[in-house]
Amino acid sequence: GLPLIIDCDPGVDDTVALLLALAAPERLDVLAITTVAGNVGGDLTARNACLVREIAGRPDIPVHAGEARPLVRAPVAADHFHGPTGLGDLPVGQPLRGPEEEGAVDFLVRTLRARPAGEVTLAVTGPMTNLARALQTAPDIGPRIGRVVAMGGARREGGNITASAEYNIHADPHAADIVARSGVDLVLMGLDVTHQVTATEARRARIAGITNTPAKVASQLMAFSARTEVELGTGGPPPLHDPCVILWLLAPHLFTLRDCHLAIETESPLTLGHTAVEFRLGEQRAANARWATGADSDGAFDLICDLLGRGA
Ligand code: BDR
Ligand code: CA
Repeated sequence: GLPLIIDCDPGVDDTVALLLALAAPERLDVLAITTVAGNVGGDLTARNACLVREIAGRPDIPVHAGEARPLVRAPVAADHFHGPTGLGDLPVGQPLRGPEEEGAVDFLVRTLRARPAGEVTLAVTGPMTNLARALQTAPDIGPRIGRVVAMGGARREGGNITASAEYNIHADPHAADIVARSGVDLVLMGLDVTHQVTATEARRARIAGITNTPAKVASQLMAFSARTEVELGTGGPPPLHDPCVILWLLAPHLFTLRDCHLAIETESPLTLGHTAVEFRLGEQRAANARWATGADSDGAFDLICDLLGRGA
């Protein structure tokens, strides 16, 4: 399988993404889960990742806890979407085993140096703080990263945490800026596509029909998100943001990508974390990312059901 590190802030949709990734060991060789403060605080996202590996029947996968704060700005939580624990209404106990002693940034640097250049892919489904910190402290790892596939940003859709910014980028715009300028091969799943991959009632009913533990947990989380969307008045069924990253890795044909010049707003208080996605490339605007513009959402849900159906 593809050597993969999943860097996340679970998080209801991060959890679904993890369950999908951990269901396909022959395709994705998950070396570790690294966690970051985001949707909820850093202690909680690390604990949640430890719980999710157990739910997935993969307690062997190491979890490395990462940065507790964004690089520059003050932390922004999203517990209004994810619940106070970060895991919706799942009953949350203590995991059998906690995170490793080694922090996420040290783990990233050590692993990227040890593995052949270009071998390791990073799936980032939270604020990009860990990766940016790793690139800052060890710039030599940049060219060693195979690819970064991240959930973040918005172009046509407007924002989901402010009028013009998507949460992951808004929560650490300086980190996203470092990653965008780093020269890594960057694929971005923004709201333009994640708002197409929604857990409609019919799709949730399909998943509710799968009886193994990971599918039951995914089903409960999607139901929680559906209720939350109604309570918050956002309208429509819940988008599966973070799962899009894993789906693209497994089935890139489900998505349409376009080369772009990506720039991140890091100064304006009004538009902080806005992603300026420019398709008119030129000398001053070389392509530095690929931006997802469209998704086959029925195909995506067939794959989600297939993956959840394999669970223990
Ligand atoms: C992103 O923000 C978080 O709340 C979700 O987990 C997802 O990564 C969507 O904007
Ligand atoms: Ca997330």
